[in-house]
Amino acid sequence: MSENLSGMKRTHYLGDVNESMIGDTVTVMGFINKRRDLGKLIFIAMRDRTGILQVTIDGDKASDELFKKAETVRGEYVIAVKGIVCARNEKDINPNMKTGKVELEVLELRILSEAAVPPFQVADTGVAIDMRLKYRYIDLRRPELQRNLFLRHKASQSVRNFLSDEGFIDVETPMLTKSTPEGARDYLVPSRIHQGKFYALPQSPQIFKQLLMVSGFDRYYQIVKCFRDEDLRADRQPEFTQIDIEMSFVDIEDIIEVNERLMKTLFKDVLNLEIKTPFPRITFNEAMERFGSDKPDMRFGLEIVDISDIVKGSEFNAFENAITSGGSVRGINATGAGNMPRKQIDSLVEHSKTYGANGLAWITITEKGEFKTSLSKFFDDAKLIEIKNAFGAKNGDTIFLCAAKTDVVLTALGAVRLEFAKRLELVKQDEYNFVWVTEWPLLEWSEEDNRFYAKHHPFTSPMDEDVELLKAGSVEDRIKIRAKAYDLVLNGNEIGGGSLRIYNSQIQEKMFEVLGFSKEEAHERFGFMLDAFRYGVPPHGGIAFGFDRLVMLLTGEEAIKDVIAFPKVNDASCPMTDAPNVVDIKQLDELGIAVKETKE
Ligand code: AMO
Repeated sequence: MSENLSGMKRTHYLGDVNESMIGDTVTVMGFINKRRDLGKLIFIAMRDRTGILQVTIDGDKASDELFKKAETVRGEYVIAVKGIVCARNEKDINPNMKTGKVELEVLELRILSEAAVPPFQVADTGVAIDMRLKYRYIDLRRPELQRNLFLRHKASQSVRNFLSDEGFIDVETPMLTKSTPEGARDYLVPSRIHQGKFYALPQSPQIFKQLLMVSGFDRYYQIVKCFRDEDLRADRQPEFTQIDIEMSFVDIEDIIEVNERLMKTLFKDVLNLEIKTPFPRITFNEAMERFGSDKPDMRFGLEIVDISDIVKGSEFNAFENAITSGGSVRGINATGAGNMPRKQIDSLVEHSKTYGANGLAWITITEKGEFKTSLSKFFDDAKLIEIKNAFGAKNGDTIFLCAAKTDVVLTALGAVRLEFAKRLELVKQDEYNFVWVTEWPLLEWSEEDNRFYAKHHPFTSPMDEDVELLKAGSVEDRIKIRAKAYDLVLNGNEIGGGSLRIYNSQIQEKMFEVLGFSKEEAHERFGFMLDAFRYGVPPHGGIAFGFDRLVMLLTGEEAIKDVIAFPKVNDASCPMTDAPNVVDIKQLDELGIAVKETKE
């Protein structure tokens, strides 16, 4: 049985009912969080987006009809209640509830919608993610997820207000478009009218925002969906949201300055936190050398040290081979990890192997100052002391060493460093550590494909000092070209990336050539852009922030799923709608498409 609303109007949200209203008659609406029956007394905890309020039906006071009705309702029923606000008895006050000092004595109860027994309890936090996402509409009733989406809304309002006040205008760019090269696979949409042709969903609005600069809009922003068909992780979804920004007549300093103020405003508006600007900056090379990562978490030390010069010439093949073949031996000092049980050491060694290292050597300095090490056969105490000093290690520390090609060493140690910090609990929670990573390499060489890829995207400008290398350099030279590109990193997460753009069509054409596009290919793919650049281009640049990642960090969540209303699971499907799904054969016929074979 369900009743309608006629004649009843909500006067208050549940969370807003308070002691100042004692004696007032109010009408509230919401879901039943829980019903408790104490014989003559029924308590119903009602829930809406603002909180929970207890309503009571006292068998001695209520009519039989009302009491009977109250006995029939269950969890998740949607009800409307008219009642009198009363003070709770002293012993019943709940200090953990916003409305914990009051309750509502029910005069009228209407069941607006009955509810089947839900597949899981809203309050149950141990439900598997596939199940949660299959019934996401129930999952989203959880106060934590509601809080996250409210905070997300607040964040987007803050960003919009700030950017609008700074003269940025919100311009929408197409969703049905042509491939934008951001390095992932495209999601394609077949065209019915042009059979055999496809639109690509944008990986970012990159080209369009640059064209808006060509059109003279000067300052653009958009909070916009982007689509990338790539492997999913906790911080990656196939469709995600960017705060996308582009500006004309600027250099890197201008872009950094306005975006630091954007972050400052956002954290103030959303968390009431003052964050310190300017943010520190570190070059890409320095980040790799010191932290083994292009998104260094600098809330803790454990920096990487190169000891190749100290250990070279030893009998230890693993070290010697790495050094003589152009690699290096580096390590980190896990301060205070001297007591780490052997099992934990071994598991860290295994962890390093997933990053391509052959393993880790280790040197423990006991509390008494003695060495315990996997290297005792190869290094005497004098050498071990030299190594210890290079790390500034003390009694009770363990040094971990890795030898291989330098990029493998750095990545593996970078990963071990993070793992340590977790195990040693070095990371201070609620600290927000921003850092700009600058001077990214322009190009990345792929051994496998024997060609260059753009490290950021093909429209990123090389640094002025390095333009000549782009024009005429060897592969070795070109690997060293630095770009006018920067990422913003927060607590070890890449939250945004951008660059100054090439605005000279000859350099742009050269860039396409170095990336292996023939003139024809470049014109076929980006001809409209190269054309546009013939008609006057202001120097321009910009940035895009991963909005989901930012909100994840603002809410303290560990996965962006928890700040997206309807996310996908790891195989990029949606358990609720069952997307992607097979389509009607008629639909495929209209598109001129036949499916070859399906894997499933
Ligand atoms: P970039 O590719 O670095 O730059 O993307 C910008 C930011 O978007 C976020 N991000 C993602 N978030 C969730 N899921 C994903 N799959 C995903 N991929 C990226 C990251 C990243 O820092 N057009 C350029 C920007 C520019 O040059 O102005 C671009 O898209 O936080």
